[in-house]
Formats: sequence, structure tokens, C-alpha cells
Amino acid sequence: MQTIRDLTALRRAVAEVRGHGDRVALVPTMGALHAGHMALVDEARRRADTVVASIFVNPMQFGAGEDLARYPRREAEDAAMLEARGCAILWAPDAATMYPQGFATTIAVAGVSEPLEGAARAGHFDGVATVVCKLLNQVAPDVALFGEKDWQQLAVVRRMAADLDLPVEIAGVAIVRDQHGLALSSRNAYLTADELAAARALPRALEEAATAIARGEPAAVVVALAAERLTRGGFATVDYVALADAATLRPVDALDGRPARLLAAARIGKARLIDNIAIEPK
Ligand code: PAF
Repeated sequence: MQTIRDLTALRRAVAEVRGHGDRVALVPTMGALHAGHMALVDEARRRADTVVASIFVNPMQFGAGEDLARYPRREAEDAAMLEARGCAILWAPDAATMYPQGFATTIAVAGVSEPLEGAARAGHFDGVATVVCKLLNQVAPDVALFGEKDWQQLAVVRRMAADLDLPVEIAGVAIVRDQHGLALSSRNAYLTADELAAARALPRALEEAATAIARGEPAAVVVALAAERLTRGGFATVDYVALADAATLRPVDALDGRPARLLAAARIGKARLIDNIAIEPK
């Protein structure tokens, strides 16, 4: 696997594999890789001949007071994991390469960016959309893969790629969970053993709430009960538990036959965890 930090070298490497007729997949990441990221690489390998993974801890998507400084950085271990999984190119630019002196452009995706994470983390999705657009322009992949744990991010990226006519397929990959159902996340590393055990209440609460909503119980009551359960179970604050249209992320009061998603964000210890689940109407 080649590790590349310079844009000209990246374009040369991608042009070379394209010269052999390869289909190219991109797996964008911020590093601190775990089995969830490896599932993205595995899916990328199924869909393309050459897999490029990027590692860039994107300052533009962190707000003031968020965890940019302490976000786990372990590039050597990440590179070993990617190489063992069959990734061909690691694109690991520094901040000055991604955002050179004078950089002045922001991509803002209206609507789908605004509720939930967008309301809790001002500017977050502008940072995500901008960096993902740049990564897609830099690598020019046929397909790019994103984890469904960040469901709203996936919807924002799909909207942005469609609106800007980017010639790439955006593919979502199912959430990878530990044996207790907790969604894998680089931020789980912030949790103590006790907090990790308590954090399992999050997928359980979502699962039960999703079942109740699918049975026809009123969504407003069910999500309020789920939030209360999280607070009782050791979460310090619950930013939201919400039922939303799966594509637009607009709030939904009741199932109307369109795909819906139940999403939650809550803080425990030093971590802010997010999770989501599809609602299958009965
Ligand atoms: O999901 C992530 O790791 C990041 O938000 C992404 C998509 C790599 C953009 O920085």
C-alpha cells in the first residue's frame, strides 16, 4: 500500500490504476479505525478493483469546544489495518494540503443538514460536505462508501453529490455493532469500562422504541420514554431521540409508508454517541 500526502502524487497514482482499467473506490475516514471501517473497505473491494482510503481529521467539521485536539490519531496502526485488508492507496494529506492559505469556499447543504446533528453541532455538516466534496474531486472515485452509523451525514453527502452532479455513486454500509449491540465508533475509546457497559442502553432503547412505533404506538410518547430511559441509564444528556424521514431527515409524527429512521444522540462520560435504526412498519 502506498501512503500519499501530496495531491499531484495522488492524481498520478489514481491515473496509473485507471490506465489499467481499474474501477476505483474511496473510503473516507478520520482514522482511529475499527471493524466498522474495515466493513467499508471490504464492501469497497467488492465494488472496485482499487481501494483508496483517506485519513484526514477535518478541523472544519469540529465546532468550538468539541474534541478536535483529543480526537484519537494513530496513523501507523490504521495504515497496517488498511494494508492487511487490501487497500492499495492511503491518502493522508495534512491540513495545509487540504486547506491551503487563502482557502475560502464552504459547501452548505440546506434542508437535510439542518435538524438533529445540524441543530446540535452548528457548522458541522458544512465542514463535512466541503471536505467530502474535496476528497471526491481529489480521488475521483467511481464509488465512495460511508457508514450508516452517521445516517444524516450519508443523507447530506448523497444530496450534495446529486446537487453538484458529482460523477460518483454514494454507497451506505450497515452499522457494525459489538456483541452487546453498541455501534462501533472511534469515540467509544473515550469511555471507561463502566460507561461502555452503560452505553449499551442506547441501542437497546432505540430497538425497543422502533418496535413500539412499528406497532403503532404514538411516536412522541415513545421517543420521550426512550430519552428518559437513557438519562436513567447513565447518559448525562440526551441531545435528541427523533423519528425522521430516512432521506430528508424531516421530523415525522407517524409512519406514512415511506422509509423512516429513529435517530439518537446522547452524552456519556467524555463521549457524545450517536446511533440510528430503521423502522419497519408491521
Ligand atoms: O465520517 C467520517 O469519518 C467523516 O465525517 C468523513 C466522512 C471522513 C469526513 O471528514
